Amino acid sequence: MSGKMVHASAPGRVNLIGEHIDYNGGMVLPAALSIGLEVDLTPRDDRSITVAANAYDTVANRGLDQAASEHWSDPAVGAVQRAHALKLIDGGADIAIRSTIPQGSGLSSSAALIVAILKAARASHGSDISNTQIAVEARRVENEYMGVPCGIMDQMAVSLATPGTAMALNTTSLDHSLVALPKDHAIVVVHSGLTRKLTDGRYGALKGECDTAKAHFGTDDLCALNPDDIATSDLADPFRKRALHCATEHRRVLDAIDALKSGDIAALGAAMNQSHVSMRDDFEMSLPAIDALVADAVALGADGARLTGGGFGGCIVAVVAKDRHDAWLNQLLGRHTGARFIGAV
Ligand code: GLA
Repeated sequence: MSGKMVHASAPGRVNLIGEHIDYNGGMVLPAALSIGLEVDLTPRDDRSITVAANAYDTVANRGLDQAASEHWSDPAVGAVQRAHALKLIDGGADIAIRSTIPQGSGLSSSAALIVAILKAARASHGSDISNTQIAVEARRVENEYMGVPCGIMDQMAVSLATPGTAMALNTTSLDHSLVALPKDHAIVVVHSGLTRKLTDGRYGALKGECDTAKAHFGTDDLCALNPDDIATSDLADPFRKRALHCATEHRRVLDAIDALKSGDIAALGAAMNQSHVSMRDDFEMSLPAIDALVADAVALGADGARLTGGGFGGCIVAVVAKDRHDAWLNQLLGRHTGARFIGAV
């Protein structure tokens, strides 16, 4: 016996600015993409979980009691386990996924899948759990089930963001407001062609270095520290540089929000360009091929460009005048043959 099939969806997200500060007390500025995923969920009476996805030929046969196993279906299994723990479903589930979000791209394919499954389970139960609570529970799946020590940005963005707007999110209080995107400029996402996984350890290593900096300064909130105090502190590198990125990145996010509100594209672009330099030199999360892609994006006429997401691969985000966009993209992809256009917001 099984229950009635329910449906839910979630978009991918791009982060305009504010990287690796969603676990360091910062503000971030993600936006929903038009690519996303759809989930059909049919509750089961037994403890089995089946997962079918358009990206994979075989159906994964899993169970409610299984640990994560570095398998593509892990986020789905973790989400069903969480839905079960929250009493949104009574047993396992049959899950069918249709996704247009490339994996390993820093566009939150995993957060979108977990959020969509939790929303489908909410619909099947008729529960009033809020979208913010869904995001918090989805982060628990990543942290506790998948073992990825990520922050809350992706889950909040894919659970709550409205297409066509950015979300100014305080990652400590979870207060958020919508910020309109520019009318005459596109926010463009280009994949570098290099993929990465948050489970590969480098994300956790960076977070661990931030934890060392937090212990040194006696705070959980690196973003609230004064950048000059960090720069002149006796904390050793790389910990000092990690903290410096956090404090300066948070201020760049505030500048970018002001710039968007006042339509100052030059100021937005400057904040994005400075953010990339800080990610490259202080947080050391970029790669030479991505630095080259960002540099060419700007040289070819973008007002600003930067690596976006967890780092070490994935996508760049650029702000480009709409009337220049097509020529700019052709030239950029002509120079970087491994790169590909993902979409624009
Ligand atoms: C990944 C994580 C987020 C965030 C970004 C970097 O997407 O899931 O929590 O830390 O990296 O900004």
